[in-house]
Formats: sequence, C-alpha cells, structure tokens
Amino acid sequence: MGFLNADIHQPVLLKEAMAMLRVVSGSVYMDGTFGLGGHTREILKRSAPSGKVIAFEWDEKAIEHGLKNSGDFAGRLIVVRRNFAEIDLGLIEAGHTKVEGILIDIGCSSLQLDRGQRGFSFQQDEYLDMRMDQRREITAAHIIATAKKQELADIFYYYGEETQSRRIADLIIEERKKAEVQTSGQLADLVAKAIPRKYHPAKIHVATRVFQALRIAVNEELANLSMILEKGAEHLVAGGRFCVIAFHSLEDRIVKRKFAANENLAVITKKPIVPAAREKKANPRSRSARMRVAERLA
Ligand SMILES: C[S@@+](CC[C@H](N)C(=O)[O-])C[C@H]1O[C@@H](n2cnc3c(N)ncnc32)[C@H](O)[C@@H]1O
Repeated sequence: MGFLNADIHQPVLLKEAMAMLRVVSGSVYMDGTFGLGGHTREILKRSAPSGKVIAFEWDEKAIEHGLKNSGDFAGRLIVVRRNFAEIDLGLIEAGHTKVEGILIDIGCSSLQLDRGQRGFSFQQDEYLDMRMDQRREITAAHIIATAKKQELADIFYYYGEETQSRRIADLIIEERKKAEVQTSGQLADLVAKAIPRKYHPAKIHVATRVFQALRIAVNEELANLSMILEKGAEHLVAGGRFCVIAFHSLEDRIVKRKFAANENLAVITKKPIVPAAREKKANPRSRSARMRVAERLA
C-alpha cells in the first residue's frame, strides 16, 4: 500500500469550511478529524506564517499518511493521537486551552474505506474489523459473533435505520451456529439473503445500512460526536466558529440539536451547507455531506 497522494484525496466542503471558520493569519485552530490532512493543510496555509493547527486523529495509519501530506508545516502542526471527545486533555497536552475555531469532518477517510483492509466496505472481502482506532478492543466480527439477537437488531435499526433489522439479526444468529461470520463479504451476502428481494433498496447496496450501523457501534461514533458538541464551545474564544460536517441524518440531527441547545453558541447556519453540484460530481463521497456552523458567544 503506497502513500495516498494529496491530490487524490479531496477534502469535502473545503472552501466553505475555510470561509465559515474565518481562518486568519496567526490564529490557532483545532481539526478534530485530521484524516489525510486535507482541511488541516488548508488552514495552515491560510493562517501562515505563525498560525497553528492542533489535529486530533485516533487512527495510527491516518496520522502516518496525513503527516506525509502536511510535511511542509512542521512546527505549526501538532498532532494528538486521541479521540476528539477527549478535547479537554488533548488541548492541554498540545499547550492550549482555547482555540479560534474547531472543525469536525466526521466519519471514515477514503484511506480507511478503500485501502484499509479493515472490513469497512463490502466492495472487498476483508476481515470485519471496523475499528478506526486500533487500540479499541471490540471489532465488528466480535459483535457479530457474540451479540444477542435483540442487540444486533437494535444496532441495525437505531444506527442504520434498517427496517429489516430483525430479519437480518435472525439470519445472523442461525448462520453463526453453523460457521463463523468474520468477513465483509460473508456479511454482505447474508444481509442480501435475509432481506426479501422486494425490499432491496434501489439506489444503495443492500448491506449499506448494516455496515454503517456496525461501524457506528464499533467506534461509538454518536456518543463521541455528542461529547465534542457538548465540550467544544468551552474551548472556543468569543467569536470562534464551530464547524461540523456530517454524512448521514443520524449525525446531522445530533449536530442540529446540540448546537441549538447550547446557550454559549449562536447557530450560523439555519439550513446545513451542502456541496455545490460541481463538487458532488467531482467527488461522489461528498454527496451526502452537510455542514452546520455555530459561533461562540462572549
Ligand atoms: C472524513 S476523515 C477526515 C478527512 C480530513 N478532513 C481530510 O481532509 O483529510 C475522518 C477522520 O476522522 C477520524 N476520526 C473519526 N472519529 C474520530 C474521533 N472520535 N476521534 C479522532 N479521530 C476520529 C477518522 O479516523 C478519519 O481519519
């Protein structure tokens, strides 16, 4: 696996995020999801010569790639290998308690999805790992092997909004009595078999929702998102902006509610900002992106 070229990876809503963050020379920003360093690199460019980015990332491989893509900015980039929900500790470690802006571009990177060999995608047949942070203990394969029927159905229903959740859970329980279900290919086939043909979705792969649900469960994505949304404002200077890019309605709903409920924040985006038609065409992964922005009150 080679290093991903910065040109291949296209950061989502890049211009819009920079405009909303109002990046200026000399300021300090937090990028909660460093990934391949796309957004961070642009913030560093725009905040030159002395601006800084404190970048959180919990995936060791992503950090390796992201640093390779951000090499020119050594000294102005501080990478913290932590869950962004640990913002309090991470910022202290980086030597700052307040920042001028926070960006969260949630979800998986193209590296994890396409080249990770970690079972995020049903396009390849890989071990069902799905941990973004290799230090986490529970894999998707473990959940599939050990969760009770009702627990599986709940994961698929609540995290995947999968209406056929019970049927899928039933078949997993049956199949795992005969043989271990350990790969993305096995799981995708099983989901396709469990859901009657007439309920197969027209526009997405039949296993998309189940894979999304498992990924959310393995990485506790919604709990982490809620946590950063609760804590982030405390670390913003007055007038500092909080930008969150979400990729599905479950996340977007949480962002909308938490922003509205926070008395220290003023919501800037009544409706979420979505990519222009041109970006959607050039980068299909951006299609479902929705960015919401709030500003820290004095
Ligand atoms: C969509 S990618 C970010 C891409 C990045 N903005 C760029 O332009 O290259 C999301 C990244 O956030 C990381 N991530 C997701 N949840 C995280 C969390 N709770 N804490 C730290 N990193 C997280 C993932 O490992 C992944 O690398």
